[in-house]
Amino acid sequence: MEEIRNPRIQIQNLKTAVIGVGSLGRHHARNYAELAKEGKGEFVGVCDVNDETARAVAEKNGCQYFTDWRALLDKATAVSIVTPTETHCEIACAFLEKGVNVLVEKPIARTLEETDKMIAAAQVTGAMLMVGHLERFNPAMVALRPHVTNPLYFEIHRVSPFPNRSLDVDVVLDVMIHDLDAIQWLVGENVPVSEIRAVGIPVISDKVDAANARIEFENGAVANITASRIGTEKIRKTRFYQTNSYVVLDYATKFASLTSLAPNAVHPLLGISVNRLKVEDIEPLRAEILAFLSCIERGDAPPVNAHDGRRALALALGVLDKIERHRNRLNV
Ligand SMILES: NC(=O)c1ccc[n+]([C@@H]2O[C@H](COP(=O)([O-])OP(=O)(O)OC[C@H]3O[C@@H](n4cnc5c(N)ncnc54)[C@H](O)[C@@H]3O)[C@@H](O)[C@H]2O)c1
Repeated sequence: MEEIRNPRIQIQNLKTAVIGVGSLGRHHARNYAELAKEGKGEFVGVCDVNDETARAVAEKNGCQYFTDWRALLDKATAVSIVTPTETHCEIACAFLEKGVNVLVEKPIARTLEETDKMIAAAQVTGAMLMVGHLERFNPAMVALRPHVTNPLYFEIHRVSPFPNRSLDVDVVLDVMIHDLDAIQWLVGENVPVSEIRAVGIPVISDKVDAANARIEFENGAVANITASRIGTEKIRKTRFYQTNSYVVLDYATKFASLTSLAPNAVHPLLGISVNRLKVEDIEPLRAEILAFLSCIERGDAPPVNAHDGRRALALALGVLDKIERHRNRLNV
């Protein structure tokens, strides 16, 4: 089937908007407003079902506000959808069917069926569908990515104090999904997962608040991921080993390093070199939105497409299934 692509639009002519301006969406709005001041698009408006929220964010960013996203269907050419996950499919499909380019927050949707509907809607008009897997735009990850060769073993920790948001989803779909996307991206999109083991328990909410997953890939790579939203501190650290180097990536402090045998040393006792990578000072969300708008302008495929979002969701659902089976055995 011939691929249909939306016509290119010069960045200054894009009409941008944000649907859902709660805790994350207001930052999308701030970034679009800042980009508009730099001549990158016209920020036409925000929408939130909460009238006060919509009005306050619009006032702050000098744009119009709406309480029904349908009002933006004919006004925008590029939208961020930052509403709760259960609304992503309906809202995204409506915009995609109109040919409006969409940046949808992660997880892409609740189910694979919803995801496939979104992919089909994008295919009909050729509108771009990008997914907000933000950590790919963290400048520490951007600096590290060219140095990643063949990761073999990951130890990942993502811990935060209890949030007062996103309690409608468990810790796997809320935060572990960032790491599930990252490991598949780093190990290789064509390397299938061969085994999932997982444990997770609700501690404070009625959803899983802390979880650990062990993911094994067909090439033998293994990732051990711990995610918790009932920590006492914020940790977003990934460590992994690949042939000839040990890698540290800290998303929170934007740090990345590779430790290896020093270039002229023939024995570990003769010298280890730690290469601390130079990391650009850029807000990851700005980098993500800029990539979205630039791809529309250039007619390029998005850096995180709907299939990437689907792959991350599928793995997250696989982890949740293993957690459920384990809980049944524990009887909790
Ligand atoms: N990429 C990341 O790092 C990251 C971080 C946080 C949240 N998220 C994702 O962003 C999305 C929103 O999360 P949040 O924490 O900002 O949630 P939130 O509850 O703080 O905000 C959601 C907003 O959407 C509004 N809303 C709900 N239904 C709507 C509708 N039909 N039309 C318009 N507005 C509607 C709500 O009134 C609210 O203001 C979720 O999908 C979440 O998983 C991603």
